Amino acid sequence: MRKTSVYLPESLKRRLSVLADRTHRSEADLLRTAVEQLLDAEDAGAAPAVRSDDPVPGRLVGVGVGPGSPDLLTVRALRALRRATVVLAPSTDLAATGRAEAIVRDAAPDVAVERLVFVMAPDPDDRAAALAAAADRVGSLLDAGEEVAFVTLGDPNLYSTFSSIASRIATTRPGTPIVTLPGVMAFQDLAARSGTVLADEQQSFLVLPANAAMVSAPGGALAAALADESCTVVIYKSGRQVAAVADRLRDAGRLSGSVLGELLGLPGERIAPLAEVADRPAGYLSTVIVPARTGA
Ligand SMILES: C[S@@+](CC[C@H](N)C(=O)[O-])C[C@H]1O[C@@H](n2cnc3c(N)ncnc32)[C@H](O)[C@@H]1O
Repeated sequence: MRKTSVYLPESLKRRLSVLADRTHRSEADLLRTAVEQLLDAEDAGAAPAVRSDDPVPGRLVGVGVGPGSPDLLTVRALRALRRATVVLAPSTDLAATGRAEAIVRDAAPDVAVERLVFVMAPDPDDRAAALAAAADRVGSLLDAGEEVAFVTLGDPNLYSTFSSIASRIATTRPGTPIVTLPGVMAFQDLAARSGTVLADEQQSFLVLPANAAMVSAPGGALAAALADESCTVVIYKSGRQVAAVADRLRDAGRLSGSVLGELLGLPGERIAPLAEVADRPAGYLSTVIVPARTGA
């Protein structure tokens, strides 16, 4: 015998306990029987008791919805949104439509989206409290046996709210099944739309967030990354810092060829050489690609 632990949603656990009382069998024995019957039915080629597109109660699924264009949402993501019993989208306010929710609305108007308020407060304690509150809501849905799809802009494994929520759920509810479905990342869309090769032959590739310290420090991560001309550098969260980013690129002789993509696939989209627009304001949804020098 090998030991396996499973987490059951409250409702299923209650039903199991009632059946155990009535049949004078242990819950473990009943679980063994259920698993055996399921596998025997599959082996016998009977109509499958479990289809791959059935929701899994208590599972958390991070779904990347791409950067903006609804047609960049993958077929797999679409299937997951339709399979989930609850679809959550982060939002700054219950009355505000978040970007990821807007993409789902366009790509799958039949899917009902519930907003999960998540404030990116500047104060770390406030941010932690907001994260805890959002994770509690996700946790109570999982406990109730829902399969929860949590949508994120781009990919759920790159600078995303989903990873913070998932890591809290993994800590507070160990054993919760958590999976992610990839989404097209903003820099991929920008590379394709601007005709920029991300890396070729021996070149390498780096993604950085443009926080103030990183951009302004002369010997900081951005300066170090730019010093290697064989490395393409993608700079995320570059909106507020766009002028300072352009200054660092000019200092390193890498402004020419760099491209800015703002609000990719969304209303107000802008794709332009950074040198031409660095003196204009840009918003949070801005990405810069600094291509490696060919043959460097
Ligand atoms: C919190 S991160 C989310 C990244 C996302 N998970 C991804 O895989 O692309 C937000 C940053 O992603 C980039 N970004 C996401 N969507 C974008 C879009 N539609 N247009 C331009 N940049 C975008 C920007 O650099 C923005 O500051």
